[in-house]
Amino acid sequence: MDKLHETALALVAEGKGILAADESEGTIKKRFDSIGVESSENNRRAYRELLFATEGAEDYISGVILFDETIRQSAEDGTPFPELLSSKGIIPGIKVDKGAKPLANAEGETITEGLDGLRERLAEYRELGARFAKWRATYTITDDLPSDYAIWTNAHALARYAALCEEAELVPIVEPEVLMDGSHSIERSFIVTSRVLGAVYTELFDQKVRLEGTLLKPNMVLSGYDASDRASADEVAEWTLKCFRRHVPAAVPGIVFLSGGQSDEDATAHLNAMNKLGPHPWQLSFSYGRALQAPALKAWGGKTENVEAAQRAYYHRAKMNSAARTGMYAPEMEREAITA
Ligand code: 13P
Repeated sequence: MDKLHETALALVAEGKGILAADESEGTIKKRFDSIGVESSENNRRAYRELLFATEGAEDYISGVILFDETIRQSAEDGTPFPELLSSKGIIPGIKVDKGAKPLANAEGETITEGLDGLRERLAEYRELGARFAKWRATYTITDDLPSDYAIWTNAHALARYAALCEEAELVPIVEPEVLMDGSHSIERSFIVTSRVLGAVYTELFDQKVRLEGTLLKPNMVLSGYDASDRASADEVAEWTLKCFRRHVPAAVPGIVFLSGGQSDEDATAHLNAMNKLGPHPWQLSFSYGRALQAPALKAWGGKTENVEAAQRAYYHRAKMNSAARTGMYAPEMEREAITA
């Protein structure tokens, strides 16, 4: 088996998923603002150390996605973060896109940038310990959007990124995120997600990317967050699976969902509902940012004396999502004693 396929499989190993801790400077500032903590380099470092050093999290977490600043930072005792993670058997990864920017001639739509110089950056990240990468494209749903133009330009860029990752021996996580803001129905979310995935796999195929060494990080098919009549967990599972069975080749080892703006418990319940209907052609797992971190961030509040409580909160969410990987999660488990 080739190395990339092996790494992709390790990232979706039984009962494990990915922690997305790759918030850009702007995004982490927003998160810190929500708890009244200054986004200084050392506060960002301390917060990430809290997560990465959580004892036992490695039982549920296979990999962590880092940001450019974070992959170069170290724990308090001087251990570089990639080394700290690897010593626990957690695979370090890296966000390599440079963010979504306005797409010319496409009012309200974006194109993700970062292809220039990417070959050189990937080589450096590999040197720093990364074994997988992430690139996120976003699409907005309105009555008329996304346009075919935004869908195909972003798919093209995602495939160019994936091909370069393969060359650099990094597993590319391909992340086309259809944003769930708005009042659209779940049917509309299904149609848009289908069009997006159709374009992404056409481009990956045309650009000769070996799917066995990749992972897909998509949105779930949900009703818009402001929809008046929102679909239940079972409906989410049904629509999402129908969409992915049609558009994601079985050669892809795993689908690692993002949480988007879902509550942490919804994100867990939705993943669980899908896995209950398994087995599926691919592993269905998580690569959550907010849904793994929100309670921990709140418990921490920027205070050293709260580190343990924050670690317990993070450990608990990792454990709940691990249970959702096998369809064994139940909301009652949220109330179980939390042991870290
Ligand atoms: P959320 O789970 O908070 O959506 O973050 C995942 C991610 O990596 C977005 O790019």
